Amino acid sequence: MPQITFYKHDPIPLEMHKVRIVQKLNLLPTDERLQKIKDAGYNTFQLHNHDIFLDMLTDSGVNAMSDDMEAAMHRADDAYAGSESYFRMEKTLQEIFGIPYCMPAHQGRACENILATRFVKPGNCVIMNYHFTTAKAHITRVGGHVEELVKDEGLVSKSDLPFKGNIDLDKLEACIKKETPENVPFVRLEAGTNLIGGQPISYENMKAATNICKKYGILTVLDASLLQDNLYFIKTREEGMADKSVREITRMVADLFDIIYFSARKFGFARGGVLLVRDRDLYYSMEDLIPMFEGFLTYGGMSVREIEAMTVGFVESMDMNIISQGPQFVGYCVDCLDKYGIPVITPGSGLGAHLDAAEFVGHIPQEQYPAGALVCALYICSGVRGMERGTLSEERNADGSERMASMELVRLAFPRRVFTLSQTEYVIDRVKWLYDHRELVGGLRFVHEPKTLRFFTGVLEPVSDWPDKLAEAYKADFGPEQ
Ligand SMILES: Cc1ncc(COP(=O)(O)O)c(C=O)c1O
Repeated sequence: MPQITFYKHDPIPLEMHKVRIVQKLNLLPTDERLQKIKDAGYNTFQLHNHDIFLDMLTDSGVNAMSDDMEAAMHRADDAYAGSESYFRMEKTLQEIFGIPYCMPAHQGRACENILATRFVKPGNCVIMNYHFTTAKAHITRVGGHVEELVKDEGLVSKSDLPFKGNIDLDKLEACIKKETPENVPFVRLEAGTNLIGGQPISYENMKAATNICKKYGILTVLDASLLQDNLYFIKTREEGMADKSVREITRMVADLFDIIYFSARKFGFARGGVLLVRDRDLYYSMEDLIPMFEGFLTYGGMSVREIEAMTVGFVESMDMNIISQGPQFVGYCVDCLDKYGIPVITPGSGLGAHLDAAEFVGHIPQEQYPAGALVCALYICSGVRGMERGTLSEERNADGSERMASMELVRLAFPRRVFTLSQTEYVIDRVKWLYDHRELVGGLRFVHEPKTLRFFTGVLEPVSDWPDKLAEAYKADFGPEQ
């Protein structure tokens, strides 16, 4: 859907849906929020949903479902083997992607486990435009390592480049030669590249990158978890694509890859995961891993109700009216923050608005987790829960030293069709307040640091009493109740 124009003012995002079921929200008073974030070990993953006003941690598994998705759940066909729900999903995915073999898994990281278990041997190198936390963790778990070759411009926070997720083609070829093709089990391209701010890859870049892989006989894998946003951006930003339908673009993209996997907590607006495999022998070489780790091949650890819902969600993801909602809301939020001079990743993506914490709280050293501190500060000052996507989300190097992230981001995800424009305005307003009081935010340090995926369960503490001082300043401006 192109942005609707208005008679009296500049365009704003216009919802192409109406809200029919709502959930009550709680906005705790500031002092209670202060206590809750302390109790959560300064880790927003550890907050309880009841204590959050607007949950912008992620879009994963929390997108609003449509009436058609809810309705489809009622015809779910429960069977250990041979569920009709699965066959309906398989047929729909075959129609959309044109790939014959379909393997269900309980979520995206389960697909990554299967890919790593099947293809990656100790010492192997998996090349990516950029890593995703769980994708990398599974590869390193089996002894492989990851090379990230996103173009340099992808790591520049302020930009007007339309496809910052593009892989550097020269570096890709050089890396394959250096590693030797035998040591590269697959190249993984991630649509809507999550950790650099949900930035898309162009069709042309995917085509050129997969051609290089073909030249060297290397398998090509697409992580399509954020494909719906990437499709929107290909259609609206890439030359020659405006006249093609979303389905046509999807098929053009799919035709480039040997394997496509995705988290259906994102793609499909439900909760699950799927691996699509083009080649029969390749499929046979992987199929036993599904019953071993997930469940029988016609449910893969998913509830059949979810399978029914996501099948409708896949079809809805081919509808420009539906997939434009995320990018248009994010774009609005990013543009408003940018106009206030707040460091935010531009251009806007589909996944969420990403604050550039390295600049926002540039006085906090990277080893004190500036993005982790900023996300806690925002919760104290608004009840909005975001997610740290920076050094805290990295794992330490083998020698125990910190691996500094190339970007320090606070992600404010926009679950699809969940928040209104006035809620978006509230977020913009509180981020602006925080930006004007940014010198009050201090660093964090670990009290309990898990070895793997430490950002999920780690416990931290502030390096000083900065959270109390920040809360005092906030209450002085807004009163204690908000
Ligand atoms: C790009 C990408 N790949 C993989 C995953 C993992 O999916 P899941 O959370 O369903 O395990 C995610 C989750 O956020 C993701 O964003």
